[in-house]
Amino acid sequence: MKSEHRQHINIGICGLGTVGGGTVTILQDNSEQLSRRLGCTLRVSHVASRTLHMDLDTQQIKTSNDIFAVANDPEVDILVETIGGIDIALKLVLQAIDNGKHVVTANKALIAEHGNEIFALAKAKGVVVSYESSVAGGIPIIKALREGLAANRIEWLAGIINGTGNFILTEMATKQRDFDEVLAQAQELGYAEADPRFDVEGIDAAHKLTIMASIAFGIPLQFESTFTEGISRITPADISYAKELGYAIKHLGIARVTKQGVEMRVHPTLVSLNTLIANVDGVMNAVLVKGHAIGTSLYSGPGAGAGATASSVVADIMDIARGLNVGAADLGMPALAFAELDADLPIVPIEDIECEFYLRLSALD
Ligand code: HSE
Repeated sequence: MKSEHRQHINIGICGLGTVGGGTVTILQDNSEQLSRRLGCTLRVSHVASRTLHMDLDTQQIKTSNDIFAVANDPEVDILVETIGGIDIALKLVLQAIDNGKHVVTANKALIAEHGNEIFALAKAKGVVVSYESSVAGGIPIIKALREGLAANRIEWLAGIINGTGNFILTEMATKQRDFDEVLAQAQELGYAEADPRFDVEGIDAAHKLTIMASIAFGIPLQFESTFTEGISRITPADISYAKELGYAIKHLGIARVTKQGVEMRVHPTLVSLNTLIANVDGVMNAVLVKGHAIGTSLYSGPGAGAGATASSVVADIMDIARGLNVGAADLGMPALAFAELDADLPIVPIEDIECEFYLRLSALD
């Protein structure tokens, strides 16, 4: 880490979709406050996107169609990856790290499936990779797990971690709307993934749960071991029977340490209507965390959308910028949640997990 004070930190942004565009907007609209907080300026110096649809000052900002031009630009200090997807994003991030750049990414699929490799290279190169925005949009849940709750042995966490899915279930439950119609609206609002099956089949939530479990329990990222079931088979009848029994149906990601090992599962769950989390509706997300010292705490906020997700991206950029100026960029280094990961802790297969279960049977009376 450099320790001399920098007046300007140069940011390169790859991808100007919902999250990348939202990031540029915050960096421009709130630049005065950000500079006052940091004591230096965050300058968007290079932007690459397939289509440049934003109003950018091209006198000041280099623009390009080639994202790798940003990774290879010697002026860029921090590369923001908001293109999504896996293969090209992985190549881009590895190249940026190899070139000594710090990286901020909102890409949960990339981190959950390739984070181990990415962090190893980042450590070798002495750079930071931050991904607060990859889990639960605007809720600073990674910071909470890594920093605020660092004194605790985390026993379990459970959360609504897909905004699109929660929006669909809420609209079905409260307005009796049709699944497909609500999904189309979630796409219009910029909540859904490029492939919305990631939302409704639970893959997106499994990516996020994998990341939280790794940080909470100090285990390597093990996406392939996370049990995943979506909400596409939930019918209005299930929702109304659940309500009669005093429950809401919520799509939860649950991670727990037991004597057998670590449970990681994503599935629809009956949640008592008396609880706070049963009343977290629409695009809102919420994560409950049980720590041995603190007890149970709840973190809630918007889980998707441009402003919420970009809020976390900019916070990560600011952490790294602070580090560049005070020599403590490690503050942003997620690997520091645990200096040593426990790769021997087994993941409990779903067949070996005991819990209550809801079955709905149709029978001839
Ligand atoms: N598609 C995701 C969601 C976006 O609905 O939660 C935020 O990660």
